[in-house]
Amino acid sequence: MGEQAQREIEIAGGTGVTVERRGAIAVWTLDRPERYNALSRAAVRELGRLAREAAGDRSLRAVVITGAGDKAFCAGADLKERRSMDEEDVRDFLPLYRASFGAIDALPVPTFAAINGVAFGGGLELALACDFRVAARGVKLGLTETSLGIIPGAGGTQRLTRIVGEGRAKELIVFARRLDAEEAAALGVIHRVADEGQSALDAALAWAAPLEDAAPIAIAAALEAVDGASDRSLEDGLSLEARCYARTLASQDRLEALAAFAEKRKPRFEGR
Ligand code: COA
Repeated sequence: MGEQAQREIEIAGGTGVTVERRGAIAVWTLDRPERYNALSRAAVRELGRLAREAAGDRSLRAVVITGAGDKAFCAGADLKERRSMDEEDVRDFLPLYRASFGAIDALPVPTFAAINGVAFGGGLELALACDFRVAARGVKLGLTETSLGIIPGAGGTQRLTRIVGEGRAKELIVFARRLDAEEAAALGVIHRVADEGQSALDAALAWAAPLEDAAPIAIAAALEAVDGASDRSLEDGLSLEARCYARTLASQDRLEALAAFAEKRKPRFEGR
């Protein structure tokens, strides 16, 4: 890393990601509003560290990722830091993106992107690595990399294509389209738009709330089975489904659900 790139990280002051726990839900906030919460190298590394730590946290039921302030969820790569990086620095950075966003994608608990402001480039790629996306009214988002002479390098070409299909992904990426929240929802890039006057974070927390009482082993198995569907033949996919199903069969939670049904009460799932 060049001296100037190191200085940029020091200027950024720490990782730029703050963490908060709300019951069984973790909220990770990209917290450098003066740079539109752009992703520095330190922030990308920290997101990966948080995801790996969260993967072993048995009391966690969901993660919400959002941005500080009301302007930006994340304006993508930190273009100021990027200017101080040479070609080799950037090349070294891409595997870090892949590892960190991959760790988020692989989390056994549902992940929500609460898109409170613009989400461009790596910012939208981060949201695409989450399971669920909700945006505040009026925000803009897009994979804008080709307008900067590059392409999405943190999974955007692959994850967006899996989410919206090849035709739409090409249109959005080749033309560096900047969508508003309503268009993004209509195209399936995001799931929901928050209600008028509701913040993206509140919308995500309300959406995630039922997961606090859900059966964690079943949720993790469902995520793994669905995640594995798109790159398998139907036959392989059905085997994956059977393996994931088997994990739920062996769980105490399944027996608790049957008992609760018989006793006409709500089940108390413990993730065992
Ligand atoms: N990296 C670092 N700093 C960024 C940034 C980024 N990706 N995006 C915005 N900022 C900074 C600006 O440099 C500016 O800082 P300054 O006041 O010190 O100059 C501040 O955030 C506000 O940005 P500005 O462009 O003045 O605000 P705006 O409301 O007119 O536009 C954006 C905001 C996000 C639409 C615009 O900055 C933009 O298009 N950024 C690039 C987004 C992008 O294509 N990202 C993909 C990267 S691969």
